[in-house]
Amino acid sequence: MSQQDVEDLDVERIRTDFPILEREVDGKQVVYLDNAATTHTPEPVVEAMSDYYRRYNANVHRGIHHLSQEASVAYEDAHDRVAEFVGASGGREEMVFTKNTTESENLIAYSWGLSELGPGDEVVLTEMEHHASLVTWQQIAKRTGADVKYVRVDETGRLDMDHARECITDDTAMVSVVHVSNTLGTVNPVSELADIAHDHDAYIFVDGAQAVPTRPVDVEKIDADFYAFSGHKMVGPTGIGCLYGKADILEALEPYHYGGGMIRKVTFEDSTWGDVPWKFEPGTPPIAEAVGLHAAVDYLEEIGMERVRDREETLTEYAYDRLAAEDDVEIYGPEPGPERGGLVSFNLEGVHAHDLTSILNDHAVAIRAGDHCTQPLHDKLGVAASARASFYVYNTREEIDALVEALEDARTLFA
Ligand SMILES: Cc1ncc(COP(=O)(O)O)c(C=O)c1O
Repeated sequence: MSQQDVEDLDVERIRTDFPILEREVDGKQVVYLDNAATTHTPEPVVEAMSDYYRRYNANVHRGIHHLSQEASVAYEDAHDRVAEFVGASGGREEMVFTKNTTESENLIAYSWGLSELGPGDEVVLTEMEHHASLVTWQQIAKRTGADVKYVRVDETGRLDMDHARECITDDTAMVSVVHVSNTLGTVNPVSELADIAHDHDAYIFVDGAQAVPTRPVDVEKIDADFYAFSGHKMVGPTGIGCLYGKADILEALEPYHYGGGMIRKVTFEDSTWGDVPWKFEPGTPPIAEAVGLHAAVDYLEEIGMERVRDREETLTEYAYDRLAAEDDVEIYGPEPGPERGGLVSFNLEGVHAHDLTSILNDHAVAIRAGDHCTQPLHDKLGVAASARASFYVYNTREEIDALVEALEDARTLFA
């Protein structure tokens, strides 16, 4: 994509799809830089969901009546659309809807991990895993007697790939790695890690919560066995997450939850399961949310994921450079470029990240403070918390300026 194409991106037009960006608090327009936590929802997504509730709200899979048929088709089609968006050629047979990325991690950890892991097996994580992956695999390993190893993060905020090669051995059963770190912004070489895992007959689970919203992702090119992400971080609704899995692996797995809508045959003695993905989706699923996620994918594709990525890179570089120019700001993670996603975590000397965020809030600048669900990584960085500004396609340079200018207030207050 040329620089011209990126410049051509009509951010002002895009912003009109997000009325919440006009929101004022105490007379100030909100500057929303908390997109890694959740993105805003554009009108076409809200419209698609309200159209569902207005015109064809019904439960799926069960009804012969017209509304249920329409709802079922929409729900099922959403699986195909999301699968296509991430390059899963098997369509719905490789795309399970869950509640969020966290549930997608748990689904595989319980369904596969509890039965397949045991003493002598190893699960390889990285020091930059989100708790969604770290806590889940840590606890499943405890229950099964497997060991957990962590690939080191080096001083530049990248994975130490030599250490990855040492950690992943023939004892490794699962490698679970975050694609784009929600704290450091690092874009990890997941395809290379998949090759290493497969050389040792291990599976690789990729946490794509920060990747799918911000760049083109092709699960088949990566050769991921499992790949997870959340609707609410990609201009879709809350309450829906996605789990890609290779068709033959999902086919062989036992379900994680049980109930109605997932079965083929039930007797008083036993039950058999329906096809993938339905066998992993018991009970009434997130139907309106699936309709909304379908619309979100359409929306993002209309912009083009290359443009979304390039816009993220442009904004991140701008924010990084502005913050790096301040002597009292410490930034974590790699320098801007293709190896950094659209967020910047930092600390202002002498000001706790929570205080900083609260002062920024007085300026209606919304960022996040805390450990961002990466406590062990913060321990390693030697800080209890950091402030994180994260950008999306509708953000502007002026909003980043507002953030940097508001830092002055924090300095004055804590001087
Ligand atoms: C990298 C990463 N993984 C997993 C998650 C968990 O996502 P969710 O809360 O939607 O389950 C997040 C959310 O912040 C994340 O950034």
